[in-house]
Amino acid sequence: MSISQIARSIGESATLKLNEKAAILRAKGDPVIHLGGGEPKSRAPVDAIVAAAALLNSGEVRYTPADGTPEMKAAIIRYTEEFYGRRVSPEMVMASGGAKQAIMSCLHAILNPQEEVIFPAPYWVSYPEMVKLCGAVPVPAPPEDGTFYPRLADITQRVGSYTKAVIINSPNNPSGAMYSAEFIRDVVEFCEKEGLYLIMDDIYHRLIFDGRRPINAYEYAKDLSDQSKLVIINGVSKQYAMTGFRIGWAVANPELIEVMTNIQSHETSGPAGVLQRAAVAAINGVQSGVENLRLTLENNRNVMIEQLKSFDGVKITRPDGTFYCFADFRAYEKDSTKLCNFLLEKVQVVTVPGIEFGMEGYLRLSYCGSIKEITEGVERMKWALDPNSPNELYIGDRKLVRDW
Ligand SMILES: Cc1ncc(COP(=O)(O)O)c(C=O)c1O
Repeated sequence: MSISQIARSIGESATLKLNEKAAILRAKGDPVIHLGGGEPKSRAPVDAIVAAAALLNSGEVRYTPADGTPEMKAAIIRYTEEFYGRRVSPEMVMASGGAKQAIMSCLHAILNPQEEVIFPAPYWVSYPEMVKLCGAVPVPAPPEDGTFYPRLADITQRVGSYTKAVIINSPNNPSGAMYSAEFIRDVVEFCEKEGLYLIMDDIYHRLIFDGRRPINAYEYAKDLSDQSKLVIINGVSKQYAMTGFRIGWAVANPELIEVMTNIQSHETSGPAGVLQRAAVAAINGVQSGVENLRLTLENNRNVMIEQLKSFDGVKITRPDGTFYCFADFRAYEKDSTKLCNFLLEKVQVVTVPGIEFGMEGYLRLSYCGSIKEITEGVERMKWALDPNSPNELYIGDRKLVRDW
C-alpha cells in the first residue's frame, strides 16, 4: 500500500493504545485503575445539556458558519473579555472541533514545509505530530536546569532562520507546571521582536491551585494591532468537563482567522451546531461547576502528592494546576514504556510513559479520578516496585503474588 511520507511519520497515540489495553483487561474482569486519563470525571454543566437537548428536539440541526455560530463567537468574545480583559471583534475568533483542531488549523495556516516550531519539554503528546502533519519540524526545548520551568534562553537558543512559531502550554500537560508571569512576558516580548507566531495553549488556565491567578499573555503584548502574531487557544473540554463535546477556539488577528477558517471550512465545515449550542450555554451559564472541579482537583493533587512522597526514590514536582503529575521513576526503571506496561500487567494500574511527552524515565499520573483510585493506584504501584513489599497483595478477594 502506498502511504504518504507525512502520514508515515505520524506515530500512533500511546494514550489510546493504553486505553485499549486497559479496556481489554477490564472486559476480562481485571480491577483496572486508570491513572492515565486526560478528562475530568464530573458531569457536563446542566445548562449545556439542556441547551443541546433543546436544539436536538427541534430536529432543525443544520450546517453552521465554518468559524462558528454568531452565538458561539459572541460567547468566545465574552469569555475573552472576562478572562483576558480584551474586547476582540468577531473577525478575530474561530470556534473549532476542540482546542486540538484550533491548534491544527493554526499550524496549517502558518507553516511551510521544513519550518520549525519550538515548544518546551515536557510537552503535550500531540504537538510534535501536529507540526509533522504540516511537513514542518518540531523542536522540543527541555529546560536546561532540569526543571519543568523553562527560561527564555531555553527557547532562544533553538531559534534559527527556519523558526516560525513557539507553542506555550501553561499550566502544562503533563507536568502541571504553571510558568511564571516573567517567563510569559519574556516569551511574548521575544516573539514580537523576532516576528514569530506565539501560540498560547491555555486549555487548563482556570484549573490552577494554591491561590494562583491565570496568566494573560495579552497583558505583555505591545502589538495588539491586526498584525499581532499572538494566538490564544482555549476550549470547554477541561474546565467544563466537556471533552466529548469537542468545542475549542482560537483568538488571533483577522487575517490569520480568515485563513484558518478557510482551512477548517474545507476540512470539516466547522464544529457541530448542537455542540456549539452546548458550549455557549456552558460559557454563559452557571460557573460554579468550574470552581467545584478546580477545588476537587486541588484536593486530589494534595492526596496524590502525599501518597507519592512515601514512595522512596520517586521524585516529584508539585503540580501548580491541571490534573496531572509527572513523576520521575528513573530510580526504578529508566524505560518508561517498559515500566508502564509492567504496572498495567502486574497490578492493573494505567499510567502514561514519559517518553511520549519528551522525557524518558517519567510517568504521567492523572488525579482526575476518585480519591480511592488515586490512593489505591499509588499503593499498588508501590507494592509492585518496592523490593521490600510483602510478597502478597489483596485487591478485593483477589490475591496477587510477586513473581518478579
Ligand atoms: C495541552 C492540551 N492542549 C489541547 C488539548 C485538546 O483539547 P480539546 O479536547 O479541546 O481538543 C489537550 C487535551 O488533552 C491538552 O492537554
